[in-house]
Amino acid sequence: MKIFIVGVTGKIGFRLARILKERGDEVDGLYRQPDQAGMLASIGITGTFGDLVSTDPQQLAEAMRGSDAIVFSAGAGGAGSEMTEAIDGNGITKSIAAAKLASIKRFLLISVFPEAWRERHMDEGFEHYIMVKKRTDIELSQSGLDWIILRPSALEDKTGAGTINLGVAQIHTEVSRDDVAATLATLLHTPAVSRKILELTEGNTPIPEAVNAMTII
Ligand SMILES: NC(=O)c1ccc[n+]([C@@H]2O[C@H](COP(=O)([O-])OP(=O)(O)OC[C@H]3O[C@@H](n4cnc5c(N)ncnc54)[C@H](OP(=O)(O)O)[C@@H]3O)[C@@H](O)[C@H]2O)c1
Repeated sequence: MKIFIVGVTGKIGFRLARILKERGDEVDGLYRQPDQAGMLASIGITGTFGDLVSTDPQQLAEAMRGSDAIVFSAGAGGAGSEMTEAIDGNGITKSIAAAKLASIKRFLLISVFPEAWRERHMDEGFEHYIMVKKRTDIELSQSGLDWIILRPSALEDKTGAGTINLGVAQIHTEVSRDDVAATLATLLHTPAVSRKILELTEGNTPIPEAVNAMTII
């Protein structure tokens, strides 16, 4: 299987790329800083140089062409509302358009719990981010693609447990990026899970079992 990751240099994207390479998949992805080429080469990835803000759907489609699936794990990461619109908003819109131009059906999107931290008083930038993420969830769900929207709880860098809670509705807690990446890799290889919004938290179910359970809901 060949997978194109938008956000391949990110904490989730790079973990996912490494897992996929280890299981024998082909991986490509967009990187925007020349010195990231070495990091990608260290796990056998050439990568496609480009910035999501300036690229257009046609250029992105050319980069993606021949892939079996797209994973979108990019994010502006608190760089301000303008970048949130450019990456978490328009970056997804462009990637959906590019997938269609390149005739790639399968599209996995990292999103967020819309009710994340409702018990806290979050700032305007965070509320705007949540609104943009929800908007793009809707856009992907109406795209006609073979999509999955994966909403992880608050991300942690601790070592993955290999076990999770996965379902259409979960309580927002925490989850390790290792476990998010391993869940994405398993979902990519489980085509029967399609057109579902799935919420992901730390938990006790082994990842293959948790993903397999999503084939019958
Ligand atoms: N933080 C949380 O608790 C949390 C919770 C739920 C969901 N999420 C979601 O998780 C996802 C990312 O997680 P992460 O930890 O992997 O984030 P990350 O490490 O910040 O990765 C973000 C990726 O996006 C790329 N990117 C940003 N701007 C770009 C541009 N203009 N052109 C090309 N690539 C660009 C980054 O590239 P560079 O390496 O060049 O910067 C990087 O590869 C986001 O979708 C976020 O909304 C986060």
